[in-house]
Amino acid sequence: MNILGIESSCDETAAAVYTDDGLQSNIIASQAVHEQYGGVVPELASRAHHKTIWHTVQQALDEGNTPLSDIDVVSVTQGPGLMGSLLVGLCFAKGLCLSRNIPLVGVNHMDAHIYANFIDDQPEYPFVSLTVSGGHTQLVYVTAPFEHQLLGQTRDDAAGEAFDKIGKILGLPYPAGPVIDERSQYGDPDFHDFPQAMLDNDFEFSFSGLKTSVKYFLEDQDNREQFLEDHLDDICASVSYAITEVLVKKLRNAIEYTGVKTIALAGGVSANSMLRRKANELALETGCELHIPKLAYCTDNAAMIAITGYMMAQRGMYAQMDMKPFANLKQVLS
Ligand code: KG4
Ligand code: ZN
Repeated sequence: MNILGIESSCDETAAAVYTDDGLQSNIIASQAVHEQYGGVVPELASRAHHKTIWHTVQQALDEGNTPLSDIDVVSVTQGPGLMGSLLVGLCFAKGLCLSRNIPLVGVNHMDAHIYANFIDDQPEYPFVSLTVSGGHTQLVYVTAPFEHQLLGQTRDDAAGEAFDKIGKILGLPYPAGPVIDERSQYGDPDFHDFPQAMLDNDFEFSFSGLKTSVKYFLEDQDNREQFLEDHLDDICASVSYAITEVLVKKLRNAIEYTGVKTIALAGGVSANSMLRRKANELALETGCELHIPKLAYCTDNAAMIAITGYMMAQRGMYAQMDMKPFANLKQVLS
């Protein structure tokens, strides 16, 4: 079975080919247009997807040495994401399916982050996934393929959103997560004790207070500019520390509650080096096997959409041609 995966939920236009022999290609066209605005501008994102999608798909087919005529199934992100952006990918995928008379699979982007762990690896079920992206932070108990139980999630900002919003306060470019990660390597995580919210709750998260706390901490300094110049790396390290401590503590709670022997990280924030290190330590301490996707499969990509589509197609989980996109997870659950 040859699958073409298409991802367009946010600001990356991506396409990948996955076959019985594994991943054949993984192409990502990032949209630089948003940088000047310090965040993703939805209308500009849809237009950029529209411009690049055909070229991106063509490149994935070429690099995967799989002509369109050999594609058996098209797998596309159905949601959650920006409605206009999702529509571009979905309409394009439907067009391909209709013109070639092949089936369509609609993939939940958050599930795909989890199944990115299966691209190079075979995690054993049951496992707990800490799925941490720019829009979501979730602890998911995965008992079998596509059998998920949501243990808890964030009540406000996602972990990636916290990195990005705090980065904006610190004057760092968007997305700030990777920059804060990099600067943290040179800073002192004990420099300031930023709050770790909701430690009395087992599986839920809250990150919006952290960004307010960083804002007030900077306002309290006599010379904010000089202070930032002297201590940016330390602040980054302390922020990373606070975020990753909470994430790993809740992951530990989930291990204890479910009794799993396998854990996984997923989503853009799983690229974070401090989180990867702490998750490794937790795995060693609890005797769990830890799976983390390769860096290229942590942040948004189409390889994860293609492999999830492959696994869904194997189980006959096909979509109807009138499948609609969904912007948020509540629409799926209700
Ligand atoms: O999964 P993703 O690519 O897109 C969404 O589905 O949201 O995640 C993007 C998020 C951004 O907030 C970005 O700042 C964050 O992942 N991120 C990181 C790192 N790399 C990406 N956060 C912390 N450390 C990183 N190394
Ligand atoms: Zn994502």
